[in-house]
Amino acid sequence: MKKFAFCYLACAAMLLPFAQGVTAQQAYELRLNAQKVGAPVHATMYGLFFEDINFAADGGLYAEMVKNRSFDFPQSLMGWKTFGNATVKTEQPLFERNPAYVVLAYAGHDHKQTGLENEGFVGMGFKKEAAYRFSVWAKTVDAAEPQKIRVEFIGAGSDVIGREELVIASPDWEKYTVTLRARATDEKGCLRIFLTTKGAIAVEHVSLFPEDTYRGRENGLRKDLAELLAGLQPGIFRFPGGCIVEGTDLATRYNWKNSIGPVENRPVNENRWHYTFPHRFFPDYYQSYGLGFYEFFLFSEDIGAEPLPVLSCGLACQFQNDGERCHVPVDKLEDYVQDALDLIEFANGDAATRWGKIRGEMGHPEPFGMKYIGIGNEQWGREYIERLEPFVKAIRAKYPDVKIVGSSGPSSDGKEFDYLWPEMKRLKVDLVDEHYYKDPEWFLKSAARYDAYSRKAPAVFAGEYACHLPRRANSFYAALCEAAFMTGLERNADVVHMATYAPLLAHVSAWQWRPDMIWFDNLRSAKTPSYYVQQLYSLNKGTHVMPLTLNQKAATGESGLYASAVCDQAESCYIVKVANTSQEDKAIRLVLDNVSKKTRLQPEVEVIVLEAEANQENTLDRPEAVAPKVSSASLSGNILQAAIRAEAFVVYKIRYQ
Ligand code: AHR
Repeated sequence: MKKFAFCYLACAAMLLPFAQGVTAQQAYELRLNAQKVGAPVHATMYGLFFEDINFAADGGLYAEMVKNRSFDFPQSLMGWKTFGNATVKTEQPLFERNPAYVVLAYAGHDHKQTGLENEGFVGMGFKKEAAYRFSVWAKTVDAAEPQKIRVEFIGAGSDVIGREELVIASPDWEKYTVTLRARATDEKGCLRIFLTTKGAIAVEHVSLFPEDTYRGRENGLRKDLAELLAGLQPGIFRFPGGCIVEGTDLATRYNWKNSIGPVENRPVNENRWHYTFPHRFFPDYYQSYGLGFYEFFLFSEDIGAEPLPVLSCGLACQFQNDGERCHVPVDKLEDYVQDALDLIEFANGDAATRWGKIRGEMGHPEPFGMKYIGIGNEQWGREYIERLEPFVKAIRAKYPDVKIVGSSGPSSDGKEFDYLWPEMKRLKVDLVDEHYYKDPEWFLKSAARYDAYSRKAPAVFAGEYACHLPRRANSFYAALCEAAFMTGLERNADVVHMATYAPLLAHVSAWQWRPDMIWFDNLRSAKTPSYYVQQLYSLNKGTHVMPLTLNQKAATGESGLYASAVCDQAESCYIVKVANTSQEDKAIRLVLDNVSKKTRLQPEVEVIVLEAEANQENTLDRPEAVAPKVSSASLSGNILQAAIRAEAFVVYKIRYQ
């Protein structure tokens, strides 16, 4: 596994013969048959799996900086410090689904202070000179005069690094906003609010967003993270998970209907990842639903990905619940089935429909054109099949064009997997979700996994996967094994229509699960080597599979070499991907056979190389330690001779006219 320094020394010596030309015997010969254009590669092939784990939504992609902004966590003041005369109230609430608010009243002495302080998500990240939009719903309480608050950003050492004032003028609830500019950069700051007059006010839904969100939206996404996701050019976007779909119990399952409408009235939900791993316990982890289903559809549209919502099938997490009594009885599933039908109407219905109208009122009168829906996450057993069946019937009857994704359970093989696949065929779902978090050996061995799969429906959705090393690090070697495995996804694009690495995002100070594709703190983010592998596949997915052999056999691991090829008919090029997982440099000879006489191959080949020490990771301090490098090589006629370093992933792009 480890790439030793001697490899690099040896490499220098080996490159000399490469430069002088490698004979056919020395080289590993890859042959691409240009005449045999294979199956289309689906536009959905590579995509995103999103779940609010590792503070991926609240505290991550969702740009809100205030934790527990509506005071409706079970402990009303979690995330807040109060000082002076501050009281939590719920009488006559402004938002019935988020009833708690805070009354700030005169502290009783001019030298004393009343107010609130919010700690953010492991602090608040402020950038020097950046503008932030503070907003609060407020009213005066029993006061004849308007009241005032002072809003401050507090940095390290308790320095005030931003300050503005707001007048709360009305005895009725109103939304007040003010823009603050940060005078310094601080990764772990906080927000402080002082009442500066002698009366009293009530405050509710205290919010702070950077002005510079992705596409400048008010209820927006953190720009750097959203741009990293957009940079993957994903074809599919699965949301909202993951186990979060199911809930630890049914009451805490992800309820999409609670995640739409005005953000102030979206009820807080428990996040199961706050307690799933006692050794990574985060008691302050809740879901605001601020990044809800409307924002999911909107972002999918922004980045050109097909939205793939996954809904509860009426089973609470089967890992955490034993027995039927924890789930919805099969004959009482109507509300859950109706939720699925209503979601399709919310996404696709016109303004005359109940849910389409709500979408229009939220700002998107045009339908989102949703084509896929997943029912259940990692479910298994007869209890799943019994519940999935009524969903399939109802969706087929009302929306025959919507494709349904079923589950093959939490494992890549075994009893449950073997039971579920035939059941999925019987129920005629369109895609089957497979999950595998496995070690490098499994990933290398499984590059041929789909070669023998039935070519008949349903297709495969590799919905969660990642190569796990003992330390569960996002090292280069894990990414290389994923790259090798993915040659098998690409070669079998007629069977595999979607693949999404998981999980996607992780806060460096608040994660529960690793490895993950992107790491971040409150100001910075880093792409892992796995991100780059995903990106190299996605940006070079081509339009059709091309047959490719290695020394006349399938390129599934001989001497540690894995390879696949596609052509891109829109861009007029062949794209060959090779992962060298061995600890030796390899000389390859790539031959393009049967190129038509009318096709003129361009002599300059684009070469993109991802290589590093096996244990190398990208960190927030060294985010580009592992990154692809682009160079070129020369095609001689229809032959490319090239050297691939030990433990490297290479993409060759051969253009033609
Ligand atoms: O990706 C993390 C978790 O792994 C998902 O929530 C679940 O589906 C799987 O077990």
